[in-house]
Amino acid sequence: MSDIDDLKSKYLKQISDASDEASIEAVRLAAVGKKGEVALKMRELGKMTPEERQVAGPALNALKDEINSALNARKASLADAALEERLKTEWLDVTQPSRPRAEGSIHPISQVTEELTAIFADLGFAVAEGPQIENDFYNFDALNIPPEHPARQEHDTFFMHRAERDNRPPHVLRTHTSPVQIRYMEEHGAPCRIIAPGRVYRSDYDQTHTPMFHQVEGLAIDKDISMANLKWVLEEFFAAFFEIDGIKTRFRASHFPFTEPSAEVDIQCSWEGGKLVIGEGDGWLEVLGSGMVHPKVLLSANVDPNEWQGFAFGMGIDRIAMLKYGIPDLRAFFDSDLRWLRHYGFAALDVPTIATGLSR
Ligand code: PHE
Repeated sequence: MSDIDDLKSKYLKQISDASDEASIEAVRLAAVGKKGEVALKMRELGKMTPEERQVAGPALNALKDEINSALNARKASLADAALEERLKTEWLDVTQPSRPRAEGSIHPISQVTEELTAIFADLGFAVAEGPQIENDFYNFDALNIPPEHPARQEHDTFFMHRAERDNRPPHVLRTHTSPVQIRYMEEHGAPCRIIAPGRVYRSDYDQTHTPMFHQVEGLAIDKDISMANLKWVLEEFFAAFFEIDGIKTRFRASHFPFTEPSAEVDIQCSWEGGKLVIGEGDGWLEVLGSGMVHPKVLLSANVDPNEWQGFAFGMGIDRIAMLKYGIPDLRAFFDSDLRWLRHYGFAALDVPTIATGLSR
């Protein structure tokens, strides 16, 4: 009987000393496994007298049970301890304030300007800029809009001051980005390939007109540029901008004093179920004015129209931003409503590039 007591105290001690699963398993095999010490003892029962066996049998069974339950208890307490340890390191204070969101966002106009700049850069167009306070000459005369020309009235011009009153050349808030054509050609001559995005001003205010809005001018001058090049460039642009391959355009004959011939350009859309979808269906949406640069315009920028020719276009940035991002009211662009800006704004680090994608 004393060996049973010895076994018991030996294994219970080993069990309580075991510090991980593997050592518990080792103790289990040594004690109560098939070839363990308790099993060996049980084999000896056969050699005992019936009296001895009556005592030793139950004692060995009890020993086996006791060792097994000690093993299980130790296993459970080790698992508890391991869980405790994990909970300590993986602890999360749910009462802490949440991680702050990046303050501010990129305005859709800025985003779209970046997008179109990336696309036209890929097509070989550089970016040019001009002043928002323009003089009469660049905004009108140089663009073949002489004084008293009806186009001056159509532009709802903001005048800075009147020439007649103080004898200075009249300044206006530019009514379009076309004066940048003149300034660029004056400075750099031909050939050239530029876009000029920026703010323009007209005295007008309703759901689709604001007194300040944005245009992007395009200008490509070389020896043999034609309307075909214009059409290709615009179709490439719209396919990339709206991310729709093979988007259709429609050129409608029109009139601008600074281009001849002139065309207004529409893109394909559908209005089905009151929902505007770009690039399908048989509806059309006007997005820009364009044409072949008028010889008089080249002349006023000191470019020889006998040698050079090219196309120009002017597109509403706000307009294409509204179409691409489903923004219904133009005026909201300039309301500085923080809720609107959070909803329609773009993450500051999502810089659009041709390689990584334009809108994400
Ligand atoms: N400047 C014109 C406008 O504001 C657009 C345009 C630009 C048309 C260039 C033709 C060529 O309406």
